Amino acid sequence: MDSRASEILTTGSNGVTSPYDVPDELMPVVAGLTSPRRHVPLWYLYDTRGSEMCEEIIRTSKSYKLWQHEYSILQTHADDIASKVSFPAILVDLGSAASSKTRLIIEAMMKRQGNFTFVPVDTAKEFIETCGRQLERDYPGLTVEPFAGLYMDGVRHSAARNGTKLLLFLGSSLGGVSIHEQLKMLQEIRAQLRDQDRFVLGIDLNTDREALSQAYGDQWIPIWRDNLISRLNKDFGGNMNPDMFKFNFQFVENPADGDTPSYVQLSLSSSGKQRVHLEKLGLHIDFREGESINFYEGPNTSCKWNMKQLLRLAERSGFAVDALWTNDEDSYCVICLAPAGVSEF
Ligand SMILES: C[S@@+](CC[C@H](N)C(=O)[O-])C[C@H]1O[C@@H](n2cnc3c(N)ncnc32)[C@H](O)[C@@H]1O
Repeated sequence: MDSRASEILTTGSNGVTSPYDVPDELMPVVAGLTSPRRHVPLWYLYDTRGSEMCEEIIRTSKSYKLWQHEYSILQTHADDIASKVSFPAILVDLGSAASSKTRLIIEAMMKRQGNFTFVPVDTAKEFIETCGRQLERDYPGLTVEPFAGLYMDGVRHSAARNGTKLLLFLGSSLGGVSIHEQLKMLQEIRAQLRDQDRFVLGIDLNTDREALSQAYGDQWIPIWRDNLISRLNKDFGGNMNPDMFKFNFQFVENPADGDTPSYVQLSLSSSGKQRVHLEKLGLHIDFREGESINFYEGPNTSCKWNMKQLLRLAERSGFAVDALWTNDEDSYCVICLAPAGVSEF
């Protein structure tokens, strides 16, 4: 990191008011962009526009089928999931976005207890607030209390409330958490849950390289390149040109009998040598030809587990499997975890 970047980051921390026209919560983006391995945090891709575009793609794509797979499992088993917690219970959804699949769980819970509170947790503040208001209109008796922030802050916020929790983490979004952080994150979640709480995860089990290269192909360019660069330009007064960056897909396969899942790695790479300016920070960044911007802190953009790896991760995190459902092709699963010692598998 050059001295200018380090000065910006120091000034914006430790409670000192930053003289730059950039909110403190965007400092991790500055840190990522100016670090030797250039990256943006995954959540930064999801501003309101990015969230809307993402919802459109995941629901309509012919090649990216996670939404459909998970939706069909939840359609069949939403009542089973809702029955895993005793009432009254609170529903919490990590990375909730439009809550489009979560609606099935909301409906199942409404049937059981009428009134309840739903806490969508997501960094896309404006988006979850808008979607939350729509949910309240659609489901009289539902109270939506959006938590705009990072996953673990949302978990701690919800854990502090009274009542049983049904905690969801859908869309295989765990796969976007750095491989090096996943175990620690699940252990921390486990520590925040009580015996009667349940944690339901949607997990992608598809490791077919060809299918993945289709699923993570050019359809994502409008979000992962064009909207990202437009957001960077807006937030930091930048002059980045999306056409000067190429969108790349890679699939990294790990041994099927090891604990580390395989993963998709997405990135942008600079089409040539270029210097970009971030006016609001008084900073420029030089890119070499081929130099990457990654979309995550760790090596993975989206993990792809096999069943053995998933069960081992659950066990090492202090969870027991309460129930597990897969789609017809066994390429996707929804797993209901109980704090270990409560349930048997
Ligand atoms: C792939 S979308 C999944 C949306 C939805 N759960 C589904 O299954 O369709 C991931 C969501 O997580 C949010 N997100 C990503 N990283 C986050 C983080 N570290 N903390 C909170 N939200 C995050 C994004 O804003 C985005 O809305």
